Amino acid sequence: MNVNASAIVIGGGIIGSSIAYELAKSGMKVTLLDKGAVGQEASTAAAGMLGAQVETHHPGAFYELCTKSQELYRPWSEELFAYTGISPQYIDEGILRVALTEEDEAELRGRLPWIRHAQWVSPEEIRRREPQLTEAVRGGLWFDRDHQVHPIHLMLALRASLVKRGVTIREWTPVFRLLQSQGRITGVQTSEGPLYADHVVLAAGAWSPALTEAFGMQLPMFPVQGQCLSIRTEAPMLTSTAFTKGCYIVPKQDGSCIVGATQVEAGFDKRSTAEAVARLQDKAVQLVPKLKEAEFLRTWTGLRPGSRDGLPFLGTWDQLPGLVFATGHYRNGILLAPVTAVLIRELLTGGSTSLNLAPFSPERAAEAAKARAT
Ligand code: FAD
Ligand code: GLY
Repeated sequence: MNVNASAIVIGGGIIGSSIAYELAKSGMKVTLLDKGAVGQEASTAAAGMLGAQVETHHPGAFYELCTKSQELYRPWSEELFAYTGISPQYIDEGILRVALTEEDEAELRGRLPWIRHAQWVSPEEIRRREPQLTEAVRGGLWFDRDHQVHPIHLMLALRASLVKRGVTIREWTPVFRLLQSQGRITGVQTSEGPLYADHVVLAAGAWSPALTEAFGMQLPMFPVQGQCLSIRTEAPMLTSTAFTKGCYIVPKQDGSCIVGATQVEAGFDKRSTAEAVARLQDKAVQLVPKLKEAEFLRTWTGLRPGSRDGLPFLGTWDQLPGLVFATGHYRNGILLAPVTAVLIRELLTGGSTSLNLAPFSPERAAEAAKARAT
C-alpha cells in the first residue's frame, strides 16, 4: 500500500481548508479533496459573522469553543492576508442584537448573568449608534467583540495559502468511501482511484454522514437550508451588524449588505424561493425601514451542517481508528474554523488538546443510535 500523504482531508469548505493549512504549517504532507471547487458549499454562502456571543444561547463547552476561536481570529486573518495578499475583509465593528418584542427582550436579558463581553443598551442608545434602525426597538445587547469577515474573500485567501504551503488540492474529486485495513481507516476511494494516508480527516460538512454509514455509524447530522440575499444602498445604512430574531443585516466593505437567513430542514434542496426572499426583505425593512429603497443584488442558498444536539463532532471514535472527525459546525463554521484547525493539529501531532474535546466527541453518534434503538 502506497501512503500518498500524512493526512487526507475530505472536504474543502472552511473547516477542511483551515485544517489542511494548519497541518501543512506543522510540516505534514497534506492532500485536500473536494467533490467540487474549494469553498463552493456552505462556506461561501455564509454571512461571515464571528458571533461567539450573539449566536450562543447558554454557557458551557460550546461557548468556550466559540470564544477561543474568536480570540484566534484576527491574528489568523492577518496571517492569511500577509501570506497571500488577499484580505479576508476582517471588520472589527460589533453586533447589535436588538429586541422588537417583549419575549425577545426577556430572552436577551436572560443572557446577561453568564455572557461575557455584552452590554445592555437602551432604545435611545441603539438609535444614537445606528440612527437608521426602526423606532420600534425595545433595547438590546451590544457585542463589541463579535466582529465579521467576508467568507468569499476568506476562502480565496485560504485557498491561496494552501497552494503556497504545498497542499495537494484535488478539486472535482469526490470521495466515494473510506478504505479500511485491519480495523483502521487507511485511505479513501476517490473518482480517480484509491489514496492512502496516516490520517483521514472527515470535514465534508452536511455530506459527512454518507461516508460513515458503511461502518454502522449514523452521524446524527442533517442539512439546514439557509437562504440569503444581498442589497446595496447609495449611503451606508449601518455601521455595525444588526441582528434580531429571524433576521440579520451584515454591512460589508464594498458597501453591500448581506441579509440572512432562513433556517429550514429541507434535505439537500438549494433552491432560492420567491417566498423566502420576500420574507427576508420584509424583515430587513422592518428592522431598517430605509432599506426599502435598496438595490437588490442577488440571492443564494447554503446548507448548514447541522447536528441534533447543536454541537460539532471533533476528535476520534475508537471503533474507527485512523479517522478524525471535524464536522457539524452548523451556524458557526466560519467562526469556529481557526480553533477547529488548531485542535485537530494538536490531536494529530500527538499532543494534548488545548480544549477538552469530550463534549464534542463522535462517541455521541453511538449514544444517539443506542437511544434510538431503546
Ligand atoms: P462546507 O462549506 O459545506 O464544506 C464541505 C465540503 O465538503 C464541500 O465543499 C463539499 O463539496 C465537500 N464534500 C462533501 N462530500 C464530499 C465527498 N464525498 N468527497 C469530497 N468532498 C466532499 N457561520 C458563521 O460562523 N458565521 C456566519 O455568519 C454564518 N452564516 C451562515 C449563513 C448561511 C446562510 C449558512 C448556510 C451558513 C452560515 N454559517 C455561518 C455556517 C457556516 O457556513 C458553516 O458552519 C460552515 O461553512 C461549515 O463549513 P464546512 O467546511 O464544514 O462545510
Ligand atoms: N450564523 C448565521 C446563520 O447560520 O445564518
